Amino acid sequence: MHPDMRVIPNELIAALRTARRVTVLTGAGISAESGVPTFREAQAGLWSHYHPEDRHPDAFQRNPQLVWEWYVWRRQLVSAAQPNAGHAALAVMQTYVPQWTLITQNVDGLHQRAGSQGVIELHGSLLRYVCSARQHIVSLEAPAMGMPPVCPRCGSLVRPDVVWFGEPLPVAAMVEAFEAAAHCDVFLSIGTSGVVQPAASLPLEALAGGALTVEINPDETPLSRRVDLTLRGPAGQLLPALGRAAWPDAD
Ligand code: APR
Repeated sequence: MHPDMRVIPNELIAALRTARRVTVLTGAGISAESGVPTFREAQAGLWSHYHPEDRHPDAFQRNPQLVWEWYVWRRQLVSAAQPNAGHAALAVMQTYVPQWTLITQNVDGLHQRAGSQGVIELHGSLLRYVCSARQHIVSLEAPAMGMPPVCPRCGSLVRPDVVWFGEPLPVAAMVEAFEAAAHCDVFLSIGTSGVVQPAASLPLEALAGGALTVEINPDETPLSRRVDLTLRGPAGQLLPALGRAAWPDAD
């Protein structure tokens, strides 16, 4: 047996094998092993010269070039990153579960590149662009440093299609995410510090709905004492072990 599989509780293996519906919430931690810094690491690291308020509509109005270039740089960072074994394991598990919903707070597109289908992007995507006045969708192949381009339809500045602090989350994504959390047999919270609302309420929604709730994270979070099971360790190791334990024929 693969050493990591020993840490997978039998209760979780049985629940996954019999689950009709599994809902998964991921955060920046699942992309950490792809070399994409998490938000909390970033506050102290490379991104320390940017602060949350820089990811804010007012910051974009005040200094569009500064905010635009930060997102061009982040897009280059995630485009150079590869999905890791954790992303890949979730894409494989999806093929074994009748109804699988993957909700992510990440904007890096790595779940889709790993093969996950129907990903709900609660905070949008770095790889999509809209105009700042009317949210017209703008297709951009290679965004460049400098001032942001302008919308061909209304002339307003183009911005990344991500949710900035203080902005509402996409309503359809929210409704779908809360429905999937409230009506599932197993809920996996992976690589999120569980402090940013409304995503942080999804695991509680799953608990209230009677799901077996599991946290996968090397560190404690405010959610740790609320969930049924915690797997302490990196998603890139634990998720492949979980998939192999539940579905031994999984490739
Ligand atoms: N595997 C699993 N989890 C990991 C790993 C790993 N290899 N490495 C780190 N983690 C965990 C950290 O312990 C932390 O709990 O991932 C979590 C990352 O937390 P944050 O950096 O807060 O990221 P996230 O929870 O996604 O932030 C939520 O906050 O800044 C906003 O909009 C932004 O979507 C983001 C939201």
